[in-house]
Amino acid sequence: MPSRRHFIQRSASLLALAAAAPLLPRFAFALDPTQLLQRVIPSSGEALPVIGLGTSRTFDVRIEDDSLEPLEDVIRTFINGGGRLIDTAPSYGNSEQVTGALLERTSTEAKAFLASKISATGRERGLQQFEASLRALQTERIDLMQVHNLQDTRTQLALLRELKEQGKVRYIGVTHYRESAHDDLLDALAREKVDFVQFNYSVGERNAEKRLLPYCADHGIATLINRPFQRGELLARVKDKPLPSWAMEVDANSWAQLLLNFIIAHPAVTAVIPATSKPRYMADNLKAGHGRIADAALREKIAQAFN
Ligand SMILES: NC(=O)c1ccc[n+]([C@@H]2O[C@H](COP(=O)([O-])OP(=O)(O)OC[C@H]3O[C@@H](n4cnc5c(N)ncnc54)[C@H](OP(=O)(O)O)[C@@H]3O)[C@@H](O)[C@H]2O)c1
Repeated sequence: MPSRRHFIQRSASLLALAAAAPLLPRFAFALDPTQLLQRVIPSSGEALPVIGLGTSRTFDVRIEDDSLEPLEDVIRTFINGGGRLIDTAPSYGNSEQVTGALLERTSTEAKAFLASKISATGRERGLQQFEASLRALQTERIDLMQVHNLQDTRTQLALLRELKEQGKVRYIGVTHYRESAHDDLLDALAREKVDFVQFNYSVGERNAEKRLLPYCADHGIATLINRPFQRGELLARVKDKPLPSWAMEVDANSWAQLLLNFIIAHPAVTAVIPATSKPRYMADNLKAGHGRIADAALREKIAQAFN
């Protein structure tokens, strides 16, 4: 039988927890961070969680704004749920600065795997941009630096290699977001050695399956997938459709989880980077990396459901 003293102590602890509750995101404890699927970066053997976070538009808010509060919950939910990779860029307005501020506010800098980009022409401009990114992100080192949309690729990759040798960057890569640029990405990969390549791939844009994803698997290049929801357009297509019963077969309880499952079920995918400004969407997206992964037949069912 618990003593009165024990009861009072326990009540005091519960009261303290209740008082602290408003400071914690509602979704913070919903997912076991150790259960988030990881994939290995081929060039190093380092493991990375398959669900990352994009910041284009969603993190472009004013630092002083109230809009920073939901984003603080997005970051807490992401990191508490086992997420690490945050993709940003100097061309995403305030996103780098907001990312740096949120990591500092939530004391989660050490857990994050930061990915940013260079979108500049010429070495000098590229270096200035990199130094501005370090300041905005409040860091001395960026985990992954990518040449944005293949702009001045040769010069910027040469610069990124120097920065890697100096220990200011851990991995380098290239990005694009259009299927019409996939051949250019393949040409760049044939010429230049990189750790990562980032491109678009989803049920609505499957071109990467033909050559890009197999090439990366064969040549040991990590892949980051952008535009998994085609900026939300894919989710709008199924807005009024009930979730099919077979979604349970991959432990999915939302259309967003099915879209992400389709992507991470491809064995050449290292991580996917959906963007969101809402903590509940963040928890939803993370859940896609906590369940079973679709087999080939189920991947096709997912794709067909969005046609
Ligand atoms: N060239 C490049 O390097 C390049 C190009 C494009 C994208 N990217 C990277 O890839 C990231 C992702 O691409 P994206 O931002 O274009 O689009 P996306 O991730 O395909 O879609 C983002 C949209 O989906 C909505 N959403 C997110 N999770 C949801 C959920 N669980 N349920 C319902 N709606 C949800 C968001 O709504 P809310 O805003 O309401 O949360 C947002 O409007 C970018 O942020 C960026 O980091 C890189």
